[in-house]
Amino acid sequence: MLVIGGPASARLAEEVARLSGLDFVEVEAKHFPDGESYVRLTSEVKGEKVFIVQSTYPPQNTHLIQLFLLADAAHRSGASEIVAVVPYLAYARQDKVFRPNEPVSIEAILKLLKTLGVQRMITVDVHSPEVFGRVGMECVNLSAVGILAKHFLDLGFKGASAFAPDRKAVRMAEEASKILGGGYGWFGKKRDRITGEVSMVLEEGEARGRRIIIFDDIISSGGTVRLAAETLRGEGAGEIYAACTHFLADRENYEKILSSGVREVVSTDTIPTFTSRVSVAGLLAEAVKSLS
Ligand code: R5P
Repeated sequence: MLVIGGPASARLAEEVARLSGLDFVEVEAKHFPDGESYVRLTSEVKGEKVFIVQSTYPPQNTHLIQLFLLADAAHRSGASEIVAVVPYLAYARQDKVFRPNEPVSIEAILKLLKTLGVQRMITVDVHSPEVFGRVGMECVNLSAVGILAKHFLDLGFKGASAFAPDRKAVRMAEEASKILGGGYGWFGKKRDRITGEVSMVLEEGEARGRRIIIFDDIISSGGTVRLAAETLRGEGAGEIYAACTHFLADRENYEKILSSGVREVVSTDTIPTFTSRVSVAGLLAEAVKSLS
């Protein structure tokens, strides 16, 4: 069994290989002058079960193409089984047809991976885990909420309350509250599919005077966490922090998040960025070992 380090996640893959005790395969990667991607496995994979670690954070399209090419390389080089380890799975939020004549982007991507020989996936806090069943692909969907909450606990946040910015994130807030011990709350969120405008109401939880951590799977533009922080401030909350698995925002949007009253955002390295304080390497290694 081998761990292949895709160009987007070479360091993470090396750590996963180390923690799971498997050999690591480096990938040679470059771009042709016209922008097309090139990858090559630097070791033989014939007869081996391989774990291709490649996150698909921006530039998503390039990282996805590299993943497709790596799957093809492994398949045609005779790997006995291919598991795609994709810590951040791009396009996962277009998980249904919201408006007539749209694609279901995540289904299209999973179908392509299946066609290229990927039999299973390991991912982290994917937006809608049910999409895997719809395309008949087995998937281990890990949750990073435990390691995020533990990070705050280690910093002295025992008793802080966990809040979810929408119904879907309640599971995260509930799980975090078991570690932090300060209860949880959540907001009802509505997004206008055409204008993108989001509105929020506090549905459950006591915010007044409390130290709060907002938990979400993803922060992209930062609009959701900003609105949650502003609503919490309106409710008289004390210090506000935010934690997410996947942090996609740039510095400018980060500053806007801070201006809304959030003291700090902590994220994992599914997307290696300036807010990454927690590594998913241990979680991924456990999942790799369980599939070995
Ligand atoms: C939505 O359902 C997700 O869980 C996130 O709350 C959302 O994708 C965050 O996006 P943004 O940061 O752009 O508001």
